[in-house]
Amino acid sequence: MNTDIQSIIANMTLEEKAALCTGASAWSTTPVERLGVPEMIVSDGPHGIRRVPDIHSMAQHSLPATCFPTASCSASTWDVELMGQLGAALAEEAIALHVDVVLGPGVNMKRSPLGGRNFEYFSEDPYLAGELAVNFINGVQSKGVGTSLKHYAANNQEFQRFSINAEVDERILREIYLPAFEKAVKETQPWMVMCSYNKVNGVFASEHHTLLTKILKDEWGFEGLVVSDWGTVRDRVAALRGGVDWEMPGPQDRRVKAVVEAVRSGELAEATLDESVRRILRIVFKAQETPKGGAFDVDAHHRLARKIAAEGMVLLKNDGLLPLKGHQQIAVIGRSAEAAHFQGGGSSHINPTRVDVPFQELQSRANNAELTYAEGYPADDSFRQDLIDQAVGLTLSADVALLYIALPTYKESEGYDRTDLDLTVQQVALIQAVAKAQPKTVVVLNNGAPVAMSAWIDAVPAVLEGWMMGQAGGAALADVLFGQVNPCGKLAETFPLKLSDTPAHLNWPGGAGKVQYGEGLFIGYRYYDAKELPVLFPFGHGLSYTTFAYSNAKVSAKTFRDVDGLTVTVDVTNTGHMAGKEIVQVYVHDRAWGLVRPEKELKGFAKVALQPGETKSVAIKLDFRAFAYYHPEYKQWITEDGNFDILIASSSADIRHTLAVTLESTLNLPCILDRESTIREWLADPRGKVAFGPFYAQIEEQSRKMSGGGDGDESAIGMDIMDMMGDMPLVSVLMFQQSALPMHPEDLADGLLTQVHGQAK
Ligand code: BGC
Repeated sequence: MNTDIQSIIANMTLEEKAALCTGASAWSTTPVERLGVPEMIVSDGPHGIRRVPDIHSMAQHSLPATCFPTASCSASTWDVELMGQLGAALAEEAIALHVDVVLGPGVNMKRSPLGGRNFEYFSEDPYLAGELAVNFINGVQSKGVGTSLKHYAANNQEFQRFSINAEVDERILREIYLPAFEKAVKETQPWMVMCSYNKVNGVFASEHHTLLTKILKDEWGFEGLVVSDWGTVRDRVAALRGGVDWEMPGPQDRRVKAVVEAVRSGELAEATLDESVRRILRIVFKAQETPKGGAFDVDAHHRLARKIAAEGMVLLKNDGLLPLKGHQQIAVIGRSAEAAHFQGGGSSHINPTRVDVPFQELQSRANNAELTYAEGYPADDSFRQDLIDQAVGLTLSADVALLYIALPTYKESEGYDRTDLDLTVQQVALIQAVAKAQPKTVVVLNNGAPVAMSAWIDAVPAVLEGWMMGQAGGAALADVLFGQVNPCGKLAETFPLKLSDTPAHLNWPGGAGKVQYGEGLFIGYRYYDAKELPVLFPFGHGLSYTTFAYSNAKVSAKTFRDVDGLTVTVDVTNTGHMAGKEIVQVYVHDRAWGLVRPEKELKGFAKVALQPGETKSVAIKLDFRAFAYYHPEYKQWITEDGNFDILIASSSADIRHTLAVTLESTLNLPCILDRESTIREWLADPRGKVAFGPFYAQIEEQSRKMSGGGDGDESAIGMDIMDMMGDMPLVSVLMFQQSALPMHPEDLADGLLTQVHGQAK
């Protein structure tokens, strides 16, 4: 095979190049047989392989594949090794199903719990999402199969997802919406990145030169190809110029012709087209290095799906009722006990190799207990009191009730957002009625994103969040309920008390074609922290059947340089009677900042398995980025000298140790002072202080004299003039203070600027 890409490009006709940059079918690249360029096949993603038999079909029934837990569930494992195993298993299935690239993972932030596709995304926290994505991608790519990181960028809602303009400031993009992409790209080089449907700050993501070319390719060094999300490209030539190498789906004859004509007319540089061709050929040939075909181990993958599901489930509440033991009569209520709700609707919908039925799985573990079943709620949105009455009747003769409640697809799916956080009216009434009749009631939830529980949570002693748990989730639920697995999952997203508390509430879902990210940096726990709002369950929360104690918390240095970072260590002891796993979280709190920062941010975590009585020391490394923030004027991540608190926590609301440290910044930042910079900014900048300090002293003296000598209430005009002046631009202050100055304000400003920059600005 001729894989000398430069010589292939040199031999390709313009038509062949343009055709290669558009798909040949719904799922494949265009081959160039005469030059030995084969086709490459991609499939969804992200939690299973949706390989349709006919690659010209978008939505045919796909071939059987393991439906692993969706991202909400796998993220709640906080288990980077498990993510690697998941990735490797997906790759094995891709190979067997003749798929070269898996369309996933998705690392968009959960800006609002209403996002219809949140089940496909990991977290509300960019650090956690990035770590999970890195391991997922490494797992897949270690087997010679590609990934396609998606959806880049600011694709955080389904409402008008094909067109909405996400208005989001650069700092917010850099600190919240891009870091998971950045980390994954820099650390793993995914073969592909998929651009999103929406616009970002007025430009379609598919034409966004700053996002696709300047940031992704040039700044982060992305070597793979950028693929369009399916059907997003409006203007193929503009998309090529922006940085979309491969348009999908195909074939698109007109698009190909448009590209050819644009090159002929000089509208599009052939070098731009060649660069996209080069990127595509590189991946197409890379894909060929892994022979496809064969079979995958269906049983082993089902077992892995069960393991991930069991570790991703989150025990939200438990007043001692779980794990189940010694019960004679168990009433199992709810349709999802028979018809497992294990995945979401849309492009990620997998045709599972098999499905564990939750009720049967309970039965197989229940020893001598008798299990009964009632449907509890209908499949549609009708209200059926008879089903509630029947369930209550069953409950009365039982000594425990297990309520399986699944959020129906009509309330949650790709393609549309949720309109509320509620379960159905019937489900709420059912829980209330059953809990009233049977104090020993466990609610088992299957949903892709948080639901409100205020109407019933106080009436039930236990709640297990089972998520969209994948095809083996039914068994995993039974494992956890009966204590064969000790739950260890923790929330990768906050469960709010009510919708009106949520960060984006006043800016959701937008209108008139745009949505403003008005909550800024403050999504998820960053928002609830800042507002001091109570939540239902905090980010990072999850119970276990055992307990853990933290001791001996230390940092490697009390004072450290940003480039050296820090290592945090803490001993964790299993103080209960059952083996279990704890997820230790490290948050960083900046005590003083130049630009507003969240109260705390997750910057490290570790999962540790402990036998009863066992202690292990956990070490977590914090790097430069753990302390830095993105400064839009410096256009870079900066650190500032100062004091930080390192919070060692069991959840974002359960801080076990706080350690004070002092950072020394090694940055030599460029001077960004200009005429409009405030006096405070001039004095805060080392160069500004040297230049302006002496004049400031004169101004200060003159002001005091003029205002009668006193401060605040005692001054002639009843205010602290110097305090007010701090926020005035240099030019304004100089104009007001002419009489205290040795020269004309304009000349002085010019002189100061020349001194700090070497030239006036
Ligand atoms: C989705 C992508 C998916 C693609 C192909 C699009 O509608 O947004 O996530 O990979 O379809 O199915």
